[in-house]
Amino acid sequence: MLVQHKEGHATARKFFNSYTAPSYDLVVRTTTFGRDAAWKRRILAEIGVRKKVLDLACGTGILAAMVDTKVNRRVTGLDLTFEYLQVARKKMSLASVQATAEAIPYRDGAFDAIVSSYLAKYVDARALAGECWRVLAPGGVAVFHDFTCPENLAMYGLWKLYFAILRIAGVFARSWKEVFCDLDRVICDSCWTDKLVEALQERGFSDIECKRYTLGTAGMVVARKP
Ligand SMILES: C[S@@+](CC[C@H](N)C(=O)[O-])C[C@H]1O[C@@H](n2cnc3c(N)ncnc32)[C@H](O)[C@@H]1O
Repeated sequence: MLVQHKEGHATARKFFNSYTAPSYDLVVRTTTFGRDAAWKRRILAEIGVRKKVLDLACGTGILAAMVDTKVNRRVTGLDLTFEYLQVARKKMSLASVQATAEAIPYRDGAFDAIVSSYLAKYVDARALAGECWRVLAPGGVAVFHDFTCPENLAMYGLWKLYFAILRIAGVFARSWKEVFCDLDRVICDSCWTDKLVEALQERGFSDIECKRYTLGTAGMVVARKP
């Protein structure tokens, strides 16, 4: 059964499209002050050496391109947005599919590791946990990374100020206006770490860890299939 997170899908379609795809890499690099690459290196450190890796919501392929294919033999990308996949395919030879993370079109146990960056806030946590469980082989690991709402009050104030500045930037970078105007609300409303940890526990994942980075503005949930 396909369980869709209707609001999450609508937001993803509003944010990710032919207007934002060409400049995505530059925008994510600059707006995170280069932290994006550091967070992604941490994701890859969590999976270690694996044969078959699935990059869920691979977007323009930034993370997939960082996977060392001499160590991890095969990387597959999956994403909802055709225009983002097109950018990824131009960059590298990537086995990829346009699909949703809540209905992964691969057989049971097909992957040894699943990585995802900036997906968790757009999806139904139970459906995501269920699909990851199904396509992971026993002993497999799943790593989910995304922005988080800072818990520290002072940091939250600074973070909101940063988004106020981004809103002004959106007046000039018009294709990013919707993202810059709404992303902070989407991040805070999603409560994705709590929902995902609960869903992963319910599904039977073990050794679940939740880590926070960069003064609470990003988080990572790591879970293993016994
Ligand atoms: C901010 S981009 C991140 C892309 C890439 N992971 C990265 O780190 O650069 C978010 C991506 O999630 C994809 N996405 C959002 N909801 C999705 C879903 N339910 N299933 C698959 N992809 C989804 C969007 O199409 C978009 O490419």
